[in-house]
Amino acid sequence: MTAGSAAAPVAVITGGAQGIGGAAAALLAARGWTVHALDLRDSPEAAVLSHRCDVTDGAALAALAGEIGPIDALICSAGINLRPRDNSPERLELAAWQKTLDVNLTGTMLTVRAFRPSIRPEGAIVTLGSVAALRAMPWADAYTASKGALVALTRSWAVDYSRDGIRVNCVCPGPVDTGMMAGMIEQHAGAQQLQLPQQRMARPAEVAELIAFLVSPGSSYISGTVIPVDGAATAHSAGMPFPRRRVPGGQAAG
Ligand SMILES: NC(=O)c1ccc[n+]([C@@H]2O[C@H](COP(=O)([O-])OP(=O)(O)OC[C@H]3O[C@@H](n4cnc5c(N)ncnc54)[C@H](O)[C@@H]3O)[C@@H](O)[C@H]2O)c1
Repeated sequence: MTAGSAAAPVAVITGGAQGIGGAAAALLAARGWTVHALDLRDSPEAAVLSHRCDVTDGAALAALAGEIGPIDALICSAGINLRPRDNSPERLELAAWQKTLDVNLTGTMLTVRAFRPSIRPEGAIVTLGSVAALRAMPWADAYTASKGALVALTRSWAVDYSRDGIRVNCVCPGPVDTGMMAGMIEQHAGAQQLQLPQQRMARPAEVAELIAFLVSPGSSYISGTVIPVDGAATAHSAGMPFPRRRVPGGQAAG
């Protein structure tokens, strides 16, 4: 394992071994941060310090907070989507509801509770919401509930922690090409049927860029915001067709 210099800013990223959290970990490490990934698995990145940790385990989080010491950024990306067990109310499995809330909502709360005292003044917290918290997402009752609550909590924390100079923002991705979305393209027989204005999912690195900005000094007056990274999906009026995307050479994509 390698880490940044003693003067390097320090980030803790839950779910930092893969997907959006993994992309944020790699980006911040490349920019000179010391990055600690807390996840059920190890990060494949040599420049990232891996800690096996379940975000539903408050005692383990508290122990790691003590071990890691002062930090500058806390990024809460650990999350699950238990599709199709998380389904319409009449078919939703109660165990899936409970597990989803345990990881996505309570896990984020426990993470913030454990690490907030370690965040230096002028530090930042980023939570991972979802467009599911902003617009209706079919067949995802527990996931939607967990992300809606996270949006509300983010605003609440942003006000509460302002006295310590800590900023808190929520990034709400649309569909991102990660393990969580594996099989979705195939299931919908082509990106066009995902009904996305860009006619593709986001790349994890495109979400990581916003996360990196939100923990940087450049965003020093940005707090309490809920920012979609969705290629205009939530800006679109339901029922209206998408224009075919222009690509170089004059042919439409998708
Ligand atoms: N992929 C998408 O389309 C999308 C869209 C909107 C929001 N999000 C949110 O972004 C976040 C990251 O999603 P992703 O697409 O990168 O998912 P992913 O499945 O690729 O990665 C999630 C990571 O979280 C870890 N994790 C899961 N449960 C954990 C636990 N209990 N303790 C510790 N680590 C745990 C996993 O091991 C994994 O490394 C999630 O909160 C997700 O809800 C994703």
